[in-house]
Amino acid sequence: MVSPASPASANPPPDDVLAPAAIADPHGFFRRLREHDPVFWSARHQAWIVTSHAEVDRAFKDKTLSSARAMAGFRHKLAERHAGLMQHALSLLDGWMLLNDPPDHTRLRDPVRRSFTPAFAASLMPKIGQRVDELLDGLHNDAELVGDFAQPLTALVICDLLGVDAAEREFLRQWTRDYGQLIYGASSHQAGYAEAVGRAGDEFYARFSAVIAAKRQQPGPDLISHLLVTSEREQWTDAELLGTCSMLLFAGHDTTSALIASSTRALMLHPESRADFETQPALVDSAVEEFLRYDGPSKTFVRVANDTHERGGHVIEAGQPLWLSTLAANQDPAVFESPEVLRLARDPNPHLGFGAGIHFCVGASLARAEARTALPKLFARFPKLRPATLDFEWSPTLVDRSLLRLPVRLD
Ligand code: HEM
Repeated sequence: MVSPASPASANPPPDDVLAPAAIADPHGFFRRLREHDPVFWSARHQAWIVTSHAEVDRAFKDKTLSSARAMAGFRHKLAERHAGLMQHALSLLDGWMLLNDPPDHTRLRDPVRRSFTPAFAASLMPKIGQRVDELLDGLHNDAELVGDFAQPLTALVICDLLGVDAAEREFLRQWTRDYGQLIYGASSHQAGYAEAVGRAGDEFYARFSAVIAAKRQQPGPDLISHLLVTSEREQWTDAELLGTCSMLLFAGHDTTSALIASSTRALMLHPESRADFETQPALVDSAVEEFLRYDGPSKTFVRVANDTHERGGHVIEAGQPLWLSTLAANQDPAVFESPEVLRLARDPNPHLGFGAGIHFCVGASLARAEARTALPKLFARFPKLRPATLDFEWSPTLVDRSLLRLPVRLD
């Protein structure tokens, strides 16, 4: 076994995940790391960067790796530094199943799993189609598809899902941006950081406490009303319900918007695939899986080792973080033939875009439904759709792989 300081780390490739070159071309960046060592110790980040499909899949399914500890140190530091200001913002995270290990994870996930069935997601389909049509009607020739289409669509669908008035969507967009600074790890020293995150936490608490009280009085066919029933057995507190709502909102909004935007970009840049997509409706399901694999919305997910153990020929010390790169795993040539090629009919396609194991994405069926509805309608409505620039701007974080803007021409 080799330790972090072993000869396997000689002449390592660049490992600064936040360097502009790595943000612009994460595929090349992670490929070089995987080719060098699929379980790579980054002295810079003080973390293991895991990049092969086999190792990422194994790590997702490994119950000795903790999700709860992924943000624990950071949360503790913020709680000490900004106790009053961030009280609500931080307590929402207690209800995030993603940041819990069993048995708390199971308590938080089970009611959602029982409410959020594929049949429930399917029941939202007509509404999704209607939302897509409304937004397409409003697009102008020089549209910016992230802000004008993908983001509002996924915000509206989350409003429909939770049974919240569509007028809340502006609040939700701003909230995702502000609260995202906490999740995506903007510097806690940045001016205005604590205030923006704290305000987002307070506003969410106030608004959604009122929503939940109203649903208790008058339940509807929405997820919050379902959760009020399915969480009875687990005796959720209101704080856990609020945390769950914020997790669903956050997890379901930006990711799905990123998928729609990057899939649109991929199709615009690959005319042959685009022609197939436009003329063969039956391709849509496998195409969406391929978009998730080819350039999906996420780069890495964090776990922390509970015990000292062996992994990929290295000793992982208890307490060390592991960054599981789904983006790299989804491009692993050991599993995917010609991984850098977009193949809409790829089958099998065991991508890890929705994760694996106990934290497998709860909203996968909804995300799929949204992409399968939005993309065919968009390309059918605007056959001349093309990028207005080839200079694409990507979100500069460790976690997400999303376009900040996608300016297009429609005519
Ligand atoms: C294309 C869109 C989406 C992608 C790529 C995606 C991806 C993922 C991934 C990779 C995980 C696992 C994270 C980990 O193991 O650390 C996850 C978890 C989760 N996702 Fe999604 N997601 C998407 C859409 C959604 C939607 C629409 C919702 C709900 C409305 C949602 C809710 C969740 C929740 C609640 C979890 C936590 C599950 C748990 O911890 O047990 N996601 N997602």
